[in-house]
Order: sequence, then C-alpha cells, then structure tokens
Amino acid sequence: MMDTKLYIAMVGLPARGKTTIATKLKENLLREGIKTRIFNNGNLRRKMIRGNTSYAGFFDPKNREGVALREKIATLNIKKARKYLNHNGDVAILDATNVSRERREKIRSYLNDHPILFIECVNDEQEILAASILRKIDLKEFGHLTQEDAIESFKQRIAYYQSIYIPLNRDGNFISLDSLNNRIIDEEMEEEIPYHDQIRDFLVTDTVKNLYLIRHGETYFNLENRIGGDSPLTPRGHEQAKALARFFEKKKIPLIFTSQKKRTVQTAEPVKELQKNCTIIPLAEFNEIDSGICEGMSYEEIRLKMPHVYAARKKDKYNYVYPGGEGYVTMEKRIDRGIKKAIYLSNPSDNIMIIGHRAVNRMILSHFLFRRMEDVPYIYVPQHKFYYISATQHKKVFQLKSFE
Ligand code: F6P
Repeated sequence: MMDTKLYIAMVGLPARGKTTIATKLKENLLREGIKTRIFNNGNLRRKMIRGNTSYAGFFDPKNREGVALREKIATLNIKKARKYLNHNGDVAILDATNVSRERREKIRSYLNDHPILFIECVNDEQEILAASILRKIDLKEFGHLTQEDAIESFKQRIAYYQSIYIPLNRDGNFISLDSLNNRIIDEEMEEEIPYHDQIRDFLVTDTVKNLYLIRHGETYFNLENRIGGDSPLTPRGHEQAKALARFFEKKKIPLIFTSQKKRTVQTAEPVKELQKNCTIIPLAEFNEIDSGICEGMSYEEIRLKMPHVYAARKKDKYNYVYPGGEGYVTMEKRIDRGIKKAIYLSNPSDNIMIIGHRAVNRMILSHFLFRRMEDVPYIYVPQHKFYYISATQHKKVFQLKSFE
C-alpha cells in the first residue's frame, strides 16, 4: 500500500520564497483534509536564542559556535517533524535553507520512515531579491541596525549560504522550482510520493487571497481624453485617492504595487499615510500601455489625424499594436511578470493592493478571470470603484466595489 505520510524539505538560499511556498502548500493541503505542519528553523532560532543572531557572522560556515547552534536547531525541528508524523500528522514541512549535501544527508538519515520530497526554490532576479531583502529586514531582529547596514548584513548572510550551496541533483525525490514564475525547472521521483499531483498543481498555480485592484484617480490627461503620458492627478483625483485611503484604513495593506507613473504613485501615497506599515513598490511591469506615436493624443485627434490607426485598432483592439508602442497582446508577458512579482513579494496571508491603469487593470483582471481575448480591451475599469479578487484553487471571487 502506498504511504500516506510525507516529509517535505525546502531547499534554497535566503529570500527565495521558501516560506511563502511552504505556507501555500500547507494551506492547500489542510483544505484537502491533509494534516500539515511547518517546522521553521528561523522561527525556532529566534525563540530559543535570547541574544541577537541576526548578524551575518552567525551564519559564517567557519563560525563553529554558530554552526553548532544552527545544527542543533535543525536537529530539533527534524525530530519534531518525525514525532508529528508518528502521531497524527500527514505532511511535515521542514522550512530551512538546507543548502548543503551534509544537511540533506542528515535529514535523510533521521527521517527514514516515510518518503521525503525536497523542494528547491530558485530565483536570481536582482530587482526582486532587493525587494525581498527589504521585507526581510523588517523583522524585529534587525531593528537595531540602520536600513543600509541591515541590507548589507542580510546580503552577507546570503553569501555565506551561497558558499556551501549545492543545488539539488541526484537528491532522491525532488522538485526544483522557479519560485518567481511558479515554473517547475526539474523534477525527479524515485518512488511514489503521496499527494504528488496536488503538490505539483499548488506549486504552479498563481493564487491570491485578497487582491484589491484599483485604477489611479483622475488626471489632467483624463479630462482631455488624452492617452499615455505622465500626467499628475487633478484635485478631484487627489480627493479620490483620499477616499480610497479612508476606505482601506482598517484593512492591513503592507505593500502597494503601482506603476512608475506619477498618477498611480500619487493615488497610493494617501493610502500609505493612513497605514501603520506600508511600502509602495513601483513596478515598470504595471506601466500603462505604451501608445507609441499616439502618446499624449486624444482619441478624437487620433481619429482625425491618423484614421488608419484608429480604424485598425477598432477592428481588432486586442491584437492591434500601436506603431512604436504596444498592444494588449504584447502587454501580456510583462503583466504576467508583474503579477508574479507582487505575489512573490507578499506573504501568503497579506492583502495585496495594485494601483494600475485602465489597460493594465484589464490585463490583470483577465489573468485571473480568463476572459475571451477580444473582450479584454472593453472591461469596465472606472476610477471610483475597485475590483476585489480572490483566486485560489478552491474558489474564485470577483467583485466591483465602490470606495466613495
Ligand atoms: O485614457 C487612459 C488610458 O489609461 C490611456 O493611457 C490608455 O492608452 C488607455 O486608457 C487604454 O484604454 P483603451 O485600450 O480602451 O484605449
């Protein structure tokens, strides 16, 4: 009979999304009635050791005291995991870097009563790494350092782990995952792995629990029906932003993703002000459709001065690409990348807020909503309402709500 109990051991350098993936797995498995628990070495370290262990030197493989302490913590969690499965647990997830062969050998030798699946998280996109590090150093243990020193210290910690990192290869059962793009890079199963199909599906699916998709407030360009550009908000636009901020005051919004345009950042600022702990992350991926030679023109001007452009776009709006610019069709990849970045940088339980543009928001909606391509450029994206999206393996919710 096939085993119904499983150990999962995460593998990967710090800030590669291991905890996010572990949490996502746990939540989804629990929903299926599969008893799952995470054993996180970092949390145990912070609980067990009174003194500060956030300084980089603690993670130096040559620091014998540090190594001994970390091994002790790892062993404790490994034993707890075994105990959990011996009692009534089904899946125990070891959430730690586990980057060295020795550590993985140790896991294998202690946990020899049920199959082990190693899941490696890989992501070396520098921009995302920098944003992930910023989130990490928010932890209390970095409170005594300046932001610059904390970043340096965390980078040094990563370098120490890098020096002993042996990527998965001939490691028994393993999945190597591009954790930013939710793509399986490599996998190898030497035996039957319980829940394998579910786990695989959870790993590659984009899920958002609470996503608030907002369009920027009114701009001067909007008043004239001009497209593109980098126009700021009008007084009415600022009022809309304030109303938005008040509406979300009671909800926790740790991160707001915007485009790099003034109008989205200005809409985000009042929201940030009313939050306790909130960071605005402008992403180029969420910039409005580039209308090339038509940038700054009104639709009326385009119709009169460039009738061929106007007619061609009207005929097939989704596939039409502005000369020297973009079309909905060519935005798809970058929008997809932006969504992945937002999900990657958020903790699984976080509310996510994206403040984008008309075309951008249509594409984000269609990512989760699976609208027919030709209908996407006509999705209603008003400035005084927002879309609430919840998309998990188990349910999908879309609501257009008012915040004024
Ligand atoms: O008018 C605002 C705007 O965001 C423009 O910058 C952009 O070109 C346009 O909407 C996208 O909407 P549509 O595809 O319907 O022209």
